[in-house]
Formats: sequence, structure tokens, C-alpha cells
Amino acid sequence: MDNLKTTTREIEEKLHIELAAVTTVEMIEHIHTQFLGRKGLVGQLNEQLKNCTVEQKRVFGPLIQQLRLQAEMAINQKRELIQTAERQNAVEKNRYFDVTLERNEGRLAGSLHPITLAQQEIEDIFAQLGFLIERGPEVETDFYNFEALNIDKDHPARDAHDTFWLNLPNRLLRTHTSNAQIHTMTKQKPPLAIVSTGRVFRNEATDASHDFQFFQCEALLIDQQVSVANLLYIIRHMLRSFFQHDALEIRVRPGYFPFVEPGLEVDASCPFCKDGCSVCKKTGWIELGGAGLVHPNVLRACSIDPEAYSGCAFGFGLSRLVMLKYGINDVRYLHSPKIEILSQCNRLIL
Ligand code: PHE
Repeated sequence: MDNLKTTTREIEEKLHIELAAVTTVEMIEHIHTQFLGRKGLVGQLNEQLKNCTVEQKRVFGPLIQQLRLQAEMAINQKRELIQTAERQNAVEKNRYFDVTLERNEGRLAGSLHPITLAQQEIEDIFAQLGFLIERGPEVETDFYNFEALNIDKDHPARDAHDTFWLNLPNRLLRTHTSNAQIHTMTKQKPPLAIVSTGRVFRNEATDASHDFQFFQCEALLIDQQVSVANLLYIIRHMLRSFFQHDALEIRVRPGYFPFVEPGLEVDASCPFCKDGCSVCKKTGWIELGGAGLVHPNVLRACSIDPEAYSGCAFGFGLSRLVMLKYGINDVRYLHSPKIEILSQCNRLIL
């Protein structure tokens, strides 16, 4: 039985030697299994005890039990020491980092949204003609969106502008960028030349070509003897520059907008084909929006004398222009997070 006593001491020594060499939590767990696991060294001692006499059991039973408790304590202590050290190491490692490290590998570079690009391009085109950039507010009052534009409270044209009224007195989301015309004309004296691009809202069902929010671009010129010829020149110049297409032509049809007289619907010759394609639905022409000479009532509402001054204006769907230019076939993609769509401004189809 001295044999058992020696083994107990040997196991105890072996444990202390091994614990002293431990540096990771994995090593601790390994030692735990080796000594205290189901088939571990301490367990094996218990097995041996089964063959002993009652007398011997009385002596060695408690000895083995004590060994088990001591081993458990020693292992737990060492585990805690190592865990604390590992935590401290992690903190230390993160304290200093290399700010020059290249983190961009394999990532997509960002780019401007196609709408933003088009806004900038159109603003640049007009800036070169001496136009100022005016971005009217998106939250608007009845006066700027309707009244001053010759659209009275009971005017049927209001029906066409499915309006989002806000839960605030006399506040709405603008239905067109024409509000910028009024902001300009009520603030400044003619001659005036402004371009305005921005988001507008219509409370209507959405499909591939209609959305409850989209972008428009608008221009206004007020001076003495402004004519339809000026208007047509400006529009053609803008479209030719925007589509980088010198042969692009426009045509006009009569159209009704309460704030212009005469009012025109403007089409551009299809920039993609000569004799009909799917973009122009085989007609060779693409509808862009409205235009005309500023109605005398609008000038009067802004305290501009219609006898002394005249003006022209147009308002086109900027979203439409962007879709044409980049070959996007659903207007709703323009405010979706689809990276493939949004990044394709680098791949012009022109
Ligand atoms: N504001 C008009 C619309 O949204 C377009 C337009 C602008 C028409 C300027 C004529 C002149 O439908």
C-alpha cells in the first residue's frame, strides 16, 4: 500500500510541474482531463482503491479525495491567472495600431449617385450660360407651389399634381421644381436666369415609370423680349451637352400648364437610334416635359411688370434624363440600394 501512497505524491508533483509550464487556456483544459477526467490519473487511483481492504480504504480514501480537491483548486487558480493575462494582452495589442495600414484592398470605391452626377452636369451647362443655381425647398407652401403659378385653389390642374399635404398648416411636399421660379422672382429683380434641380413628390401609385418621388430640372429666364426662340435654343443646347450628341433635335407640341402661355410639350429626338428603337418605342422621339413663356399672371404675382419683361421656362424629368443616359429601365432603382445600378454611371451606353 506504500505503493499507493507514493503514487499519490507522484501525481501531486507531476501536476505542479505541468501546471508551472502552462501558458494557454487550452493547455489547462488538457491537464484537467489528464488528471481529473473520467479516465484521469486521480480516477485511476480510485480504481486501485477498489482492491484494497477496508482498513486501507479508510486511510487512502481521504488521501485521494484530498488530492482531487487540491488538484481542482490548483487548476482553477492557474486558469484564472492565464485568462487575466490573455485579456491584458488583447487590450495591449489594440492600444497601438498602424494608421497607415492599407484597408481598401478588394473593396469597391464609392462613386456619386447618377442623379447627383446629372444635377452637377446640368448645373455646369447652365452656369456656362451665365445662369445662377437656385435650389428651392422641398417642403413648400401653397403660394409657391400653386397660387403664384396661376393655379388657384379650385383650379382643375391641381388634380394632376397628386399632392402630399403635410400635417402642418399650409405645408406640402412640392410637386414640381417650378416653386424655385417664384422664390427667385419674388426675391430678385430681373433680368434673371436660374437653373434648379431637385426632388419632387407626387402621391401616386408607383410602377417602372412612375414614382412617388423623382427629380426634375427647371430653368427660368426673365428679361426684355424673351421669346420661344430663346427657350428652344436653351433646351437644345442643354440636351446636346448632356447627351454629348451634336445632332440631337427637339420638337414641340402645344401643351397646357397654367403658368405658361403659350405652353409646350417638348420631345427630343431619340439619342439612341435613327429609325426607332425600344427606348423611343419606335417613334424616334422621347417626351421630356413642359415648357413655355411665363404667364403674365405669374410675373404679376411676383411684382414683375409683364409689359416690361417677359420670360421662358421649362421643367423636365431629371430622373427620366438619367434613366435614358444610363439605360436604367425602372425609375424606382434610383432610390434603391442596388449597387450594380447605382455604380453604372461609369458605363455610359452612349
Ligand atoms: N412644372 C411642370 C410640371 O411639373 C413642368 C413645367 C415647367 C412646364 C415649366 C412649363 C414650364 O409638370
